[in-house]
Amino acid sequence: MITGTGSCAPSSSAGNVFFERLVDTTDEWITARTGIKNRHIISGETLSELATAAARRALESAGTEAAELDLIICATMQGDYIIPSMGCVVQREIGATCPAFDLNAACAGFLFALDVADGLISSGKYNKILIVCSDQLSKFIDYSDRSTCVLFGDGAGAAVVERGDSLRYIRICSKGDADLLSINSARPKSPFFVEGKSQGYLAMSGQDVFKFAVSAVVGSIKEACAAMGITPDDIDYFLLHQANGRIIDMAKSQLGQPCEKFLTNLAEYGNTSAASIPLLLDEQRRKGTFKRGDMLAISGFGGGLCWGTCLLKWAG
Ligand code: ACO
Repeated sequence: MITGTGSCAPSSSAGNVFFERLVDTTDEWITARTGIKNRHIISGETLSELATAAARRALESAGTEAAELDLIICATMQGDYIIPSMGCVVQREIGATCPAFDLNAACAGFLFALDVADGLISSGKYNKILIVCSDQLSKFIDYSDRSTCVLFGDGAGAAVVERGDSLRYIRICSKGDADLLSINSARPKSPFFVEGKSQGYLAMSGQDVFKFAVSAVVGSIKEACAAMGITPDDIDYFLLHQANGRIIDMAKSQLGQPCEKFLTNLAEYGNTSAASIPLLLDEQRRKGTFKRGDMLAISGFGGGLCWGTCLLKWAG
C-alpha cells in the first residue's frame, strides 16, 4: 500500500507565450491541441535536488525515517549522473543506508517501479520501499522543434510503499519500438563515431504515439476491471499519465466515464514523464481528494514502448 507521497517541481516556469517567441506556435494551438498552458523547467536547481525534496516529503507524509527504508527505486530516463544512479544520489541525500537503483520505463516509470516494489514486498524480502520518479525532459528537447518542445516539463514525485492489501491489481507491459518515440544517447567526441543529426534529442511520431496511448490506456484499464470483476463505473478516480488533454478526453469517452473522475494537472506542468503520475497523486492527496476506500485506476504509457495500469483502494 502507498503510505506517503511527495513531489517537487522546478521554481522556473515557461507559459505558452514564451514558446510563441521561440518557435512558430500560438497559445491557442498549444491549448487546443494539448491542454498545456505552462510547464516547470529546471534552470537554477538540479534534478537530484527535486528528487531529494520529493523523497523527503514522501517520507514525512508516511511518518517514516530514511533509516527504516529497505530499498529505493528511482524511475528516471537519466539522472544528473550516469553513475552514481539517481537512486544512490537520493539515498545519500536523505541519509538512507538501503540498496538503491534506477529503472527506465520512460513516462510509465511509476507503474514499473510500483510493480517491482509490490513484488519484493509480497515475496517477504522487504517491508518499506521508497519510489522516486524524476525526469528532466528539458535536457532532451530540441527547442527549435515546435512539435515537441511545447509538450514537456521537469519534475519529481515520490511514494512510500509498504505491506498491505490496497494494491488490488497491477500489470505492466512493453513492446520494444524505437520508431514511434526515442531519444538517441549522445555519443562522446571520439575518433570512432560520426555525429548524427539529432543526437540526444527526443524524436516522436506524435499521431502514432497518440493512437498507441489511447489504446494502451483504455485497453489496460478495461483489462484491469475485467480481472477484478468490476467495471469502469466502479472506479472513483482515474489518474492517467499527463501527456495530452485530448488523450485523457478520448479515454473518458471510450470508458464512458464523467469528466470529474479524471484528475489532471497537465495545464500547469505539461508532460513530466515518470514524475507525472506521482506528482498528480501527491497534489490530490494533499488536497484531500481521496477518501478511505476510494478505488483509483492509475495508468501510464510512454517510450519503450511501456505502459501499465494499477487499481488501488485508497487506504490513507
Ligand atoms: N504549434 C503550431 N503548430 C504545430 C505545433 C505547434 N506547437 N506542433 C505541430 N504543429 C503543426 C504540425 O506542423 C502540423 O502542421 P501541418 O499540417 O502544416 O504539417 C499540424 O500542426 C498538425 O500536426 P499533428 O502532428 O497532426 O498534430 P496533432 O494534433 O497530432 O498534435 C501532438 C501533435 C500534440 C504531438 C499530439 O500528436 C500528441 O500529443 N501526441 C502524443 C504525444 C505523447 O503522448 N507523448 C507521450 C510519450 S512521451 C515519453 O514517453 C517521453
